[in-house]
Amino acid sequence: MASFSCKPSDQFTLLLSSVMVCLLIASCAGQLNQKLDITWGDGRAKMLGNGELLALSLDKASGSGFQSKNEYLYGKIDMQLKLVPGNSAGTVTTYYLKSSGSSWDEIDFEFLGNLTGDPYTVHTNVYGQGKGDREQQFRLWFDPTANFHTYSILWNPRSIVFSIDGTPIREFKNLESFGVPFPKNQPMRLYSSIWNADDWATRGGLVKTDWSQAPFTAFFRNFNAEGCIWSLGKPSACGAHDAWLWQKLDPNNLKRLRWVQQNYMIYNYCTDARRFPQGFPKECAVQ
Ligand SMILES: *[C@@H]1O[C@H](CO)[C@@H](O)[C@H](O)[C@H]1NC(C)=O
Repeated sequence: MASFSCKPSDQFTLLLSSVMVCLLIASCAGQLNQKLDITWGDGRAKMLGNGELLALSLDKASGSGFQSKNEYLYGKIDMQLKLVPGNSAGTVTTYYLKSSGSSWDEIDFEFLGNLTGDPYTVHTNVYGQGKGDREQQFRLWFDPTANFHTYSILWNPRSIVFSIDGTPIREFKNLESFGVPFPKNQPMRLYSSIWNADDWATRGGLVKTDWSQAPFTAFFRNFNAEGCIWSLGKPSACGAHDAWLWQKLDPNNLKRLRWVQQNYMIYNYCTDARRFPQGFPKECAVQ
């Protein structure tokens, strides 16, 4: 990791000052307005309480969204979400990291709503230099509308890991040595939104959004980012001491990942032969 040139003494100063800032504002994790900006939705996105809760809502006229103040080059992002309850068919709640530019990198979680009592679909994708088409979809082993659950993205030089309540559901390994682009030099920001996608989201667009149920609201809290914050053209405030930067799945996590993949995965691009008549993408042989 020669590109991380920040000196231990700088790190210590940074750590110390962020600890002090946190002490001053009492509870850092709770203060969403310190870390996130509401970006669109004309009043449909709201910080509630003392900034410990954020609500995004959607009605017939518009959805809404927020983004992180910081950009990260590698990071571990956690947030708790409580998804739209009841008849949420046609709605999509997104939670993703994305860089800017025309050959962007992106790491996606999307939650596709459904009719009351029917299960959500959790959609994931990874883009490297503007190229995606790496979808995996899952069902959940709980009702994501009844309580808050933690959705995490770990992005480090080894791999990208999607987790829910600490259980990994997908790992996208760094296979650059096989010629697969891996996000590594474009800083990404966290984005989240709720919008209407009833032209495709639920059963390929057959089930339409029931606007009599609007507004549709999803809740967010406890945003936590341990990341290499991008500032003045380089990553800072992280390095050898950040365990997440070197972390890989241990045997127990690998076991849980397999459990999810065997029991809850409903779509995997790597097994969709019809889509790739010319042969599967390279990473499918190794993932
Ligand atoms: C909604 O529920 C139906 C019935 O279980 C299922 O086939 C479908 O995949 C579910 N999810 C979405 C997003 O449509």
